Amino acid sequence: MFEHLSPLAADPILGLMIAFRDDENAHKIDLGVGVYKDEAGTTPVMRAVKEAETRLLASQATKSYVGPAGNAVYNEEIANLILGSELANKTKALRCTFQTPGGCGGLRLAAEFINKSKPGARIFVSDPTWANHIPLLGDAGLQIEKYPYYDYESHSIRFDDMMSSLQQAKKGDLVLLHGCCHNPCGADLNHDQWRDIRDLALKNGFTPFIDLAYQGLGDGVDEDCFGVRLLADALPELIIVSSCSKNFGLYRERVGALTVICSSPASMKATSSLIAGTARGIYSMPPDHGGTVVEMILTIPAMRADWEQELTQMRQRINGLRTLFVDRLNAAGVDRDFSFIQNEKGMFSFLGISVPQVQTLVKDYSIYLVDSSRINVAGINNANIDYLVNSIKKVIG
Ligand code: LMR
Repeated sequence: MFEHLSPLAADPILGLMIAFRDDENAHKIDLGVGVYKDEAGTTPVMRAVKEAETRLLASQATKSYVGPAGNAVYNEEIANLILGSELANKTKALRCTFQTPGGCGGLRLAAEFINKSKPGARIFVSDPTWANHIPLLGDAGLQIEKYPYYDYESHSIRFDDMMSSLQQAKKGDLVLLHGCCHNPCGADLNHDQWRDIRDLALKNGFTPFIDLAYQGLGDGVDEDCFGVRLLADALPELIIVSSCSKNFGLYRERVGALTVICSSPASMKATSSLIAGTARGIYSMPPDHGGTVVEMILTIPAMRADWEQELTQMRQRINGLRTLFVDRLNAAGVDRDFSFIQNEKGMFSFLGISVPQVQTLVKDYSIYLVDSSRINVAGINNANIDYLVNSIKKVIG
């Protein structure tokens, strides 16, 4: 049955983790997979997470099933976190939130449920987008269309091209948007651009689908939800997939959520039951641990304050590294303008170098980054920045 199979190429992002781990070069630098790293190069368990886990271990009284929607308190807290309490209350009768196995689980659950509701529905995704969006959405049966997003020459958003391409998106189509910290390019829509997208969605009737994987790592927990909240307040339907991988550092615990806003309470009830049935048919229900940890952090004020403080430090570290990196490239006399990196948001930016140059950095210098030249800025630190800058200087000539 399986004799005809041949192995797939390594995953373009996760494959780098293994290559980096196996590299014995003492100078190796990991700018590949999108995990936060501190100055020591480690991905720490956040303080509030440790505290919540300790309390959970001591207090948990059962391991019984939770059901396809997961932890109901977590779901309500996530709706409040992404929408803000005022909008969460205003939309209460129209929305449902499902705990999902990570953001990936949320994206796939959404795609499967959409495909049941409208088989083969078209979804417009940004070009470029995160490498795993297309398998997660396309393998569920959605038809992928692309809209132009990033200009590699000017390092800016091709907003006019994006808007004219999205004229094709009509009622029954979806448009995938990155809520903040665009992965892979780091170039985010400004407030006016979000307003234009809202207006186009109202005019043409498409349903926006927002992937919010980096809330809190751009400008702030609330600031990063400007687009989500603007659209949630104005549109009859909205899909939001959020993740606690990055902002709670819960990567391997798989903690995410799917929130859907519907046009009427009756539609919400039907949608909710269809999503529950879809989850039951794929994985039955999400794992509990990480969701309950997030529930505790968000509902216990001291823990929440500590989480917000640590997240602020993480965000400030990344933003500081963006400036430091650009300054060091300039100081080293690198003959290219990298100042755009300073204005981009979240973990990622493109270096804007060619695939052969990326491969030279990987093979000859043990500096790991995605072929597209996407770097995880959080992988830079004071101990590796000189080696990184000098290597880039040598490679781009
Ligand atoms: C990334 O883009 O590097 C992260 O979202 C990790 C992943 O699963 O690809």
